[in-house]
Amino acid sequence: MENDYIEFIKSIKTKTGIDLSLYKEAQMKRRLTSLREKRGYKNFYSYHKALTDDPLLLEEFLDRMTINVSEFFRNYNRWKVFEEKVVPHLLQNKLKLKIWSAACSTGEEPYTIAMILRKYLPPHHIHITATDLDENALVRAKKGIYPERSLNEVPNDIKVKHFKRNGALYSLDDSIKQAVTFKKHNLLADRFERNFDVIVCRNVMIYFTEEAKQNIYHNFTNSLITGGIFFVGSTEQIFSPEKYDLKLFDTFFYQKVK
Ligand SMILES: C[S@@+](CC[C@H](N)C(=O)[O-])C[C@H]1O[C@@H](n2cnc3c(N)ncnc32)[C@H](O)[C@@H]1O
Repeated sequence: MENDYIEFIKSIKTKTGIDLSLYKEAQMKRRLTSLREKRGYKNFYSYHKALTDDPLLLEEFLDRMTINVSEFFRNYNRWKVFEEKVVPHLLQNKLKLKIWSAACSTGEEPYTIAMILRKYLPPHHIHITATDLDENALVRAKKGIYPERSLNEVPNDIKVKHFKRNGALYSLDDSIKQAVTFKKHNLLADRFERNFDVIVCRNVMIYFTEEAKQNIYHNFTNSLITGGIFFVGSTEQIFSPEKYDLKLFDTFFYQKVK
């Protein structure tokens, strides 16, 4: 890694608390180099100076590095398994579930969970914690207003029940919004809360280095109760789940064994 980029990584960590060295290097560097060049800076040193002087440029940089793509019921078949197998299994001996949607982006994922749980539980029994590093994404998540393309996979009955159409936009009803509490949380630096029945963390681990990923898997296991379920993205299979005291429950779902 050349010096210019190493120095840039250090300064960004000091400025924002985000440690870019824990993200896969080639991919991150490519994204940031193309943004830097688009803005006309010859090297990361001059780009960093510009980020310090111009908050809008810093915001654009944070936006580019976080990658917020999401949608409701992303990989629909997995959510069917969540609804028909995971939730009934967990509710066998409980009336409430403690759930964390980590790296929730603009909220589609935790709201999907809330809409599924509404089929089983009254609104006041549903409490989902949803976290992301990106404060702008969290602001949008709290608004609960989405373009049609975010709803492509939403079954019609749920669309009718929980969304109100307003021209090209869809707003979520309050009972679903109230089920979710959004907070800022950095998976690479912050403390992990405990005693979750379910942790959903999808489509973010792919960006992290192998070492960072292993740490986070350990942290997630420590945050689950025994028997709790960890739901990962559809390219994020864990190859040796036993290393983290997990066992396969269904494709892309792992259960904490002890
Ligand atoms: C592609 S989105 C995934 C959204 C959702 N989980 C899904 O699967 O549709 C990745 C999210 O990870 C967040 N992210 C990136 N690095 C993070 C970190 N260190 N801690 C927490 N969230 C992070 C980004 O801000 C972004 O919102």
